[in-house]
Amino acid sequence: MKGSHRLAPLIIPTFVLLILGIAVNEKVCIAGITSKYIRRPEASVDLPIDSPYFAVPPGNNPPQQVHLTQADRDGQAVIVSWVTPLAALSTVSYGLNKSQYDHSVTGTFTRYSFYNYTSRYIHQATLRNLQFGTTYYYRVGSWVGSGSSYREFSFTTPPPVAPDSPYIFGVIGDLGQTYDSLSTFQHYLKSQGQAVLYVGDLSYADDYPFDNNVRWDTWGRLVEPSTAYQPWIWTAGNHEIEFLPEIGEVTVYKPFLSRYPTPYFSSDSTSPLWYSIRRASAHIIVLSSYSAYGKYTPQWVWLQAELTKVDRTKTPWLIVLMHLPMYNSNTYHYMEGETFRVQFESWFVNAKVDIIFAGHVHAYERSNRISNVAYNITNKACTPVFDNSAPVYVTIGDGGNIEGIAGNFTEPQPQYSAYREASFGHGILDIKNRTHAYFNWHRNQDGEAVVGDSYLLLNRFNAP
Ligand SMILES: [Fe+2]
Repeated sequence: MKGSHRLAPLIIPTFVLLILGIAVNEKVCIAGITSKYIRRPEASVDLPIDSPYFAVPPGNNPPQQVHLTQADRDGQAVIVSWVTPLAALSTVSYGLNKSQYDHSVTGTFTRYSFYNYTSRYIHQATLRNLQFGTTYYYRVGSWVGSGSSYREFSFTTPPPVAPDSPYIFGVIGDLGQTYDSLSTFQHYLKSQGQAVLYVGDLSYADDYPFDNNVRWDTWGRLVEPSTAYQPWIWTAGNHEIEFLPEIGEVTVYKPFLSRYPTPYFSSDSTSPLWYSIRRASAHIIVLSSYSAYGKYTPQWVWLQAELTKVDRTKTPWLIVLMHLPMYNSNTYHYMEGETFRVQFESWFVNAKVDIIFAGHVHAYERSNRISNVAYNITNKACTPVFDNSAPVYVTIGDGGNIEGIAGNFTEPQPQYSAYREASFGHGILDIKNRTHAYFNWHRNQDGEAVVGDSYLLLNRFNAP
């Protein structure tokens, strides 16, 4: 179904997009758009446990749930993670040619228990000193003896960190494992995305009785067609906390941290829940909405120092990921991010962050460039104002999980809200150079080639 607002930038010449982008850009105060599109109201249903999308690969003790993430500051290292049902070596063989592996590295494995579930063998190994802009082939599993069972994949490292390095990021949040999740994921697979910025809430295993961690395994297999081939940059959401004292599970983030390592050491973080990377022309900061962030807390101290390390002459694009949105005009989770906003918004404005992605709300929304930092309790300045130094806030928790769509927006649409729609989908951040990038949102009802919302980002550091 098509809304009257729809743009079709893939068929519109670039110069027209430029004009449109400027027209909706930060200096112009326009009325926001609430899409007329009404998604069908049915609940989102998880794929059955015997779905072919959850199938265990054939073979003897086959590796499964293979996923990658960046392992170092600038993209010359990759963490490979995978699961084997039985004990196996944590070895990755890799090289520049398929099936010809002249390097190998052996990492470690872990197992964890959660109530009456015990995980399989969760391996991780880090490939270092990779060349930029190079395709590597790799193999995990066992390749010795008659019972060998291995699988081969590949990935491409990013270009060197440089201000005009183009790069295409996918942006996905709150995916889960429903038929709608599958639709979102399959649409993303058809995109040109080179890495995924994932804004939290992965498997939704905790929506099952006793937090059935088998649903972590099924989720790992569902997304493997992408995660085994390109890095996903992980953000923790509330569904990763998994604090269930009623069944004796009080170690927060246990399944997530056991399964999804992050490169926090390389950005001097003391927690895998907040960290940063640089990739191509982007400096990406990942924050944890559900970890302490008050003044003097470890995350607050780290972020303060991290923002001083951003070099916009090398990475002009400054991107922040978090789970809880700071600006959200949906009735669901309305103002849940307010204390986080009060704590950090002035930092983001002062740092001229280009764009902030969040999830949590199961709908799509994009803000104008606004800030709300003038309020001091007594001056009554408590309404967001247009601010050219402020980030664009994108809420993209519309991956399609079992909890369904967040279909009720506050009315009237606040002035800060540029576009909002209660549909499932994913985003593409297409960085062209040091000054221009496009952010496109794709709703699931349409093909990947159709853009539901399009925005031209003019870089905050380099734009006039
Ligand atoms: Fe959430």
